[in-house]
Amino acid sequence: MEGPIGVIDSGVGGLTVVKEMLNRLPNEPIVYIGDDARCPYGPRSTQEVRKFTMEMASALSKMGIKMLVIACNTATAVALDEVREHFSFPVVGVIVPGARGAVKASGTGNIAVLGTVGTINSGAYDDAIHALLPDATVHPLACPEFVPIVESGLYKSKSAGDIVAKSLVGLTGKDFDVAILGCTHYPLVQHHIQAHLPANVNIISSAVETVSDVESILLSTNSMRVEGSKVAPIFYTTGEIQQFHSIVEDWLSIDEPDVRHIVL
Ligand code: DGL
Repeated sequence: MEGPIGVIDSGVGGLTVVKEMLNRLPNEPIVYIGDDARCPYGPRSTQEVRKFTMEMASALSKMGIKMLVIACNTATAVALDEVREHFSFPVVGVIVPGARGAVKASGTGNIAVLGTVGTINSGAYDDAIHALLPDATVHPLACPEFVPIVESGLYKSKSAGDIVAKSLVGLTGKDFDVAILGCTHYPLVQHHIQAHLPANVNIISSAVETVSDVESILLSTNSMRVEGSKVAPIFYTTGEIQQFHSIVEDWLSIDEPDVRHIVL
């Protein structure tokens, strides 16, 4: 298989998975679409999220990708099967990898899941965790305020910390030793989340395990790019180029990233 790896998200959240890809698979070309103009997906209907996800996958399919990473939990929860059925390239989601990372990290089997309303309501994490650990106790918490903080670029602000603190009150009195960041935007507010959870809680994002799945597929299909010069990732957004650009610069430490506008 030739071509870049496609990565999609409702916005900038998938950059948290791209960051791990750039570390572990530095020779792989990446083409990313963030649907910032229609973000957040969390409060949208299943039908809408499926339609938007298919639109992004189709756009990347036309660009000749060899694999697709749905770096969005909300889209993975409701659209992964449909995308897999429709396209011939391998498609990786983030929920099973995230659940696997959490189960590995938990000593007690008591796991909190932070996610969007769509992801939490889908029950996809409960299913994925229980498939691996039938006796697990899952504490789901929808945190709809987090994605807007990240998309607006305010994730480092003091007010972001206050909003995170207020949301996490929903976990007060619950016993857990692992919290999954069940939304790819959340690693950008991880420092705030960490500050408001008990110190013994291990915070897991799905990025590490997701990239392990990507790597296994590249190896098993003999399609890892091992030679040639590094290719800079290309980022498409349906929204504001400037805002996307500054979040890529900040989060991925890339100077002058190649950010383009796309209409889906
Ligand atoms: N990054 C998406 C996720 O992982 C954000 C969802 C949203 O747009 O609300 O679920």
